[in-house]
Amino acid sequence: MKSIKIEDLSFAYRPEIPIFTDASLELPFNEITFIKGANGSGKTTFCRILSGLEKRYTGLIHINGLDIKSVSFTERAKSIIYLKQEPLSNVVAATPDEDLTLWQQGFNENFDESSSQLRKRVMDKLKINHLRDKPFWELSGGQIKRIGLAALLLNYDKYWILDEPIAGLDNTLARIFIEILEERKALGKGCLIISHKENKFMNVIDKYYLIENKIFERIMRKI
Ligand SMILES: Nc1ncnc2c1ncn2[C@@H]1O[C@H](COP(=O)(O)OP(=O)(O)O)[C@@H](O)[C@H]1O
Ligand SMILES: [Mg+2]
Repeated sequence: MKSIKIEDLSFAYRPEIPIFTDASLELPFNEITFIKGANGSGKTTFCRILSGLEKRYTGLIHINGLDIKSVSFTERAKSIIYLKQEPLSNVVAATPDEDLTLWQQGFNENFDESSSQLRKRVMDKLKINHLRDKPFWELSGGQIKRIGLAALLLNYDKYWILDEPIAGLDNTLARIFIEILEERKALGKGCLIISHKENKFMNVIDKYYLIENKIFERIMRKI
């Protein structure tokens, strides 16, 4: 099974304050892994490491058997997509339609004429069609977050790395997003959900970890 394998990961922004110390875990691509941690425990740092944005760690991280330090960003982006915690930091263009076009075609090999129809369907699902040509600076935080979720749907077959994915969403949208995760789970498509709160995700989680004492502690309780 494809996975991200993390072995003996150690990382510190400053030597005297380690964030991770010899932390190991495996993220199988067919499972939904949930990692919980208090504010400042290193959740976002972990996402940045996995997605190749932070390279100053020691230890080994393999994506499908390949050391991520030896894999180019473009190559990595073919198998994983990272939705950052801050909605605006996922934006790569001036309007949602341009943005989603880039998310769709940038790192996908199968981009063709049917792609604009798929984009429209995804925008319908997330109720953002009316926003498609508005400049991002006219959108609210929650609306921008939805554009990020649409980018995920356009990269459906990849492994999703999700940093606080439902923060800032209203209840309806949060429910739509959980349904999307349930559908994916049924198809054997996993993701990593990082959050300080698990309650909304309880029914979809396969494995649950806590960032504690600078490592990932598996929580085995029935959830
Ligand atoms: N670029 C940075 N430089 C120095 N320290 C940082 C940087 N980014 C985060 N930190 C610190 O590292 C710790 C973990 O941060 P972060 O991964 O954002 O936590 P979380 O997402 O769990 O809230 C925090 O103490 C934070 O202040
Ligand atoms: Mg964070």
